[in-house]
Amino acid sequence: MTRPKVLVARAVFPQTVEKLAQHFEVEANPADTIFTKPQLIERLQGKHGAFTTGSERIDADVLAACPQLRVVANMAVGYNNFDIAACNAAGVLATNTPDVLTETTADFGFALMMAAARRMAESEHFLRRGEWNRWSYDMFTGSDVHGATLGILGMGRIGQAIARRGALGFGMPVIYHNRSRLPADQEAPIDARYVDKATLLREADHLVLVLPYSASSHHAIGAAELALMKPSATLTNVARGGIVDDAALAVALRERRIAAAALDVFEGEPSVHPDLLTLPNVVLTPHIASATVATRRAMADLAADNLIAALTGGTPPTPINAADLQHRRA
Ligand code: 8YV
Repeated sequence: MTRPKVLVARAVFPQTVEKLAQHFEVEANPADTIFTKPQLIERLQGKHGAFTTGSERIDADVLAACPQLRVVANMAVGYNNFDIAACNAAGVLATNTPDVLTETTADFGFALMMAAARRMAESEHFLRRGEWNRWSYDMFTGSDVHGATLGILGMGRIGQAIARRGALGFGMPVIYHNRSRLPADQEAPIDARYVDKATLLREADHLVLVLPYSASSHHAIGAAELALMKPSATLTNVARGGIVDDAALAVALRERRIAAAALDVFEGEPSVHPDLLTLPNVVLTPHIASATVATRRAMADLAADNLIAALTGGTPPTPINAADLQHRRA
């Protein structure tokens, strides 16, 4: 019997490619070329599965042009690079990598929030520029994290993990807004209070965004929302670019309408809005919230396990749309 064919669309751990090669004929991408849409379509000809990352867009055109494709396995929990309605219509299974990155991403979100509040990046740049020549009483005074009100927009797995860190480790009162309220037994251990979005924006000392990107969350934080925040507040985004209107944020930071921000994700990344690059009161990192060796290995393993199960008659551990597929491509 011929083995199924899969494309590994970006460079990944050699062990992941080896694992896939035990089951499939694998076309890998060790040069780590980011394929244009026509290149992706060309590479996917005759492939039954694709191992993707956030940089490959799987939409109706790609699915129509690649009729043998049966499963797309994303090495990411977020899957806004997949058009799920188009996958459903085409009968293509999509999978992602939840859970394995929750705590790692929450660590980083919390670290970014602390860095913004305590002005770590800004003060480090000052030191490196050789400008530190004396102590002074108000040098880089920021705002406290412990005991301050932590606001979470998007209370999924990662939002809850950040809330736990704040409530249990730093004595922070937690308020949150989400599409749906958590069950009482999940709110209780961290004493989390569900509030409407405007209250969240008005009351949070440190607001962290952890909601998925979709048409409805596009620019969920723009000029109007930033205007509701406290001038002393910080804003941290570890979710997706496009949730924040980066141009509006740059204005708010420049005019000190909020104190500081910390961003791991950007509209149009890897490009970064040029105004953000010039501002001292924003910490900028290149989409690395899940980037520990152990977690990236776990994400790659889970994506590979999904692909293997889907193409060898097994049950993929973390499907996105299994319940919504009326038919599956054979
Ligand atoms: C990934 C992420 O590194 O999981 C996600 O949704 O944003 C990151 O952990 C990135 O999407 C690459 O696939």
